[in-house]
Amino acid sequence: MSEAVTSSVLELDGVTKRYDGETAVEDLDLTVEEGEFMTLLGPSGCGKTTTLRLIAGLEKPDEGRVNISGEVVACDDGCRKPECRDVGLVFQEFALFPHMTVEENVEFGLNGHAEDRVDEMLELVGLEGHREKNPENLSGGQRQRVALARSLAPEPEVLLLDEPFSNLDVGLRVRMREEVRRIVKEAGVTTITVTHDQEEALSISDRVGVMNDGRLEQIGKPEDVFQTPESRFVADFLGHASFVSGYVSDEGVETPLGTVDFDYVEGLTEAYTGVDVDLLVRPDDATALPAEGDPDGTIIHRRYDGPSFTYRVELSNGDTVHCMHNHVDSFEVGDEVQVRLELDHPLAWYPAEETA
Ligand SMILES: Nc1ncnc2c1ncn2[C@@H]1O[C@H](COP(=O)(O)OP(=O)(O)O)[C@@H](O)[C@H]1O
Ligand SMILES: [Mg+2]
Repeated sequence: MSEAVTSSVLELDGVTKRYDGETAVEDLDLTVEEGEFMTLLGPSGCGKTTTLRLIAGLEKPDEGRVNISGEVVACDDGCRKPECRDVGLVFQEFALFPHMTVEENVEFGLNGHAEDRVDEMLELVGLEGHREKNPENLSGGQRQRVALARSLAPEPEVLLLDEPFSNLDVGLRVRMREEVRRIVKEAGVTTITVTHDQEEALSISDRVGVMNDGRLEQIGKPEDVFQTPESRFVADFLGHASFVSGYVSDEGVETPLGTVDFDYVEGLTEAYTGVDVDLLVRPDDATALPAEGDPDGTIIHRRYDGPSFTYRVELSNGDTVHCMHNHVDSFEVGDEVQVRLELDHPLAWYPAEETA
């Protein structure tokens, strides 16, 4: 590879890791820019932790290499030790030293003469008043702040967070993820988190990379990955996905819910006329209305989500669509309805799947 001309802090280049012949991470390319907050999102077992361990130097790649600040720190014939990399790592369980105070925990990664830095870190995470406490006397959110302060204290180039919010209660989880983003942005550190929680990934990240089975399926801004998933896997993983089948005419896509104009189908044109496609319709893209005349379908499931109700409608062709309604509960299971597509952005589409 030639010398980097970008401001990227971290680069993974064709990284593959196998355990006993089973591939955990496969041919992974990833570039993270300075100061960026990136999240790797994917189901359990897809290789997220392994990726972080490869970056931290706790695992050695079988193929490919890892660059930090333009220097190769790991490749298949050599590997710099974790303590010699400019990387901070926060584990899911925070791994604080129970017999040390907050202050001593934060000081741990620093080589002496560090009082100013400890003060700075405790202020950054808002724990100045708790410096003498032991971790057992702290709340979950406070423990997480200590873990964060400890890993930020030595000023790493890259901060890695493995499922950082999964041990926290729901309400705290939402507050802490915003707080963590504020803290790392203020510290200016390049950060990679991993999670299986799509809402978390979408809400705090500059970019999201979706992983499946050891591979990176798609990477991009949260809104782009959500609105225009490049695969059905990504579409499904990022939120309730319904697929409405249709075929392309010279007007648009003809579906059981009417014609969807080309303007509202991402990148589709007349050139595809005659092709069978599936449109991605998310719950907020569809509304159920009382049937007039010929109904589009029947409500087969009703779910109360708190702020909204979601109805699952089975269409005459067997497709199902989720319709999300705010506040008002309008239907029961068995009701016949019309379904209206709320087209305020182009829908993603996929070539129709063969039905066996
Ligand atoms: N030390 C290990 N030895 C053997 N297999 C492992 C080891 N670590 C992870 N794996 C396997 O590699 C795959 C990816 O694991 P992991 O990176 O932990 O996934 P995730 O963090 O996304 O849940 C899984 O199939 C897992 O069983
Ligand atoms: Mg994991």
